[in-house]
Amino acid sequence: MNIDDIKKEFPIFDEKIQNNDLVYLDSANSSQKPKVVIDRINEFYTKQFSNVGRSIHYLAVAATNLYENTRLSVQKYINAKDKNEIVFTKGATEALNLVANTLGQKYLDEGDEILLTELEHHSNYVPWHYLRKSKNIKINFAEINDEGEIPIENIEKMITPKTKVIAVNHLSNVTGAILPIKEITELAHSRGIIVVVDGCQGAPHLKIDVQDLDCDFYAISCHKMYGPTGLGILYGKKKWLEELPPYQGGGGMIKEVKKDRITYGDLPNKYEAGTMATAQVIAFDQSIKFLENIGIENIIKHEKRIN
Ligand SMILES: Cc1ncc(COP(=O)(O)O)c(C=O)c1O
Repeated sequence: MNIDDIKKEFPIFDEKIQNNDLVYLDSANSSQKPKVVIDRINEFYTKQFSNVGRSIHYLAVAATNLYENTRLSVQKYINAKDKNEIVFTKGATEALNLVANTLGQKYLDEGDEILLTELEHHSNYVPWHYLRKSKNIKINFAEINDEGEIPIENIEKMITPKTKVIAVNHLSNVTGAILPIKEITELAHSRGIIVVVDGCQGAPHLKIDVQDLDCDFYAISCHKMYGPTGLGILYGKKKWLEELPPYQGGGGMIKEVKKDRITYGDLPNKYEAGTMATAQVIAFDQSIKFLENIGIENIIKHEKRIN
């Protein structure tokens, strides 16, 4: 795929917007959608639709297989060790709320500290603020420097013996700074601290290898990766996803339901309660293929060229 010709892949650029050609500079907020993704949503609803995971008729089994194929593609794309470490959510915001909420239930106690940076999106601040209120947890902030970056020293000096979680963005939506996640993880793990990464801007712009980064959680926003809205991804290390409680209750996430007790499903079902964004998940497979066809190295090269 030729990156200089890439606009041809996006039907919206054939439209006149207020009688003008469209110049779209808001991709960090949400990217436009290539034809392959739009067509896949249409094709799924037109020819293949069924809910997933609940029935054993032909369409349900086929849809479930397609849904699980996307999970495998995401696993490969971010180099997760296990496909069950990939949880579909309704957005990165929900993924980060899931992490804050479940860590709050099982892992954090009054007086514990969470370290954020001054460069966080609201989605990676407000969910932790809830814990500050409900569990009396303290939030500290690593300072931004004059270049708009967060050097590792600024993180290190804010760590205290009470720090239990460091939650940081990978690539800032405000300044474009790339945070040194691998170094942060090394430092954090040497002190028994969990690392949560808001990867909303990292995943569309950088090569992501969660095993190499060694973070405990990585949140992704699919609509910023040429994918549909209403979909996000939470990567979580298996040991954490197994240990933490479910986030929401409902169908699909349970194993056994009795009047006096309930057991929860295995990973990743435990975190995917209710009817999921089936069409969006299935179409997101095309977004990953689209990104792979261009090649993340070519995307990085192109961004450097236009910077
Ligand atoms: C850095 C960052 N974090 C989180 C979000 C929220 O993502 P979502 O829209 O998938 O909930 C955004 C979206 O603007 C973002 O840029």
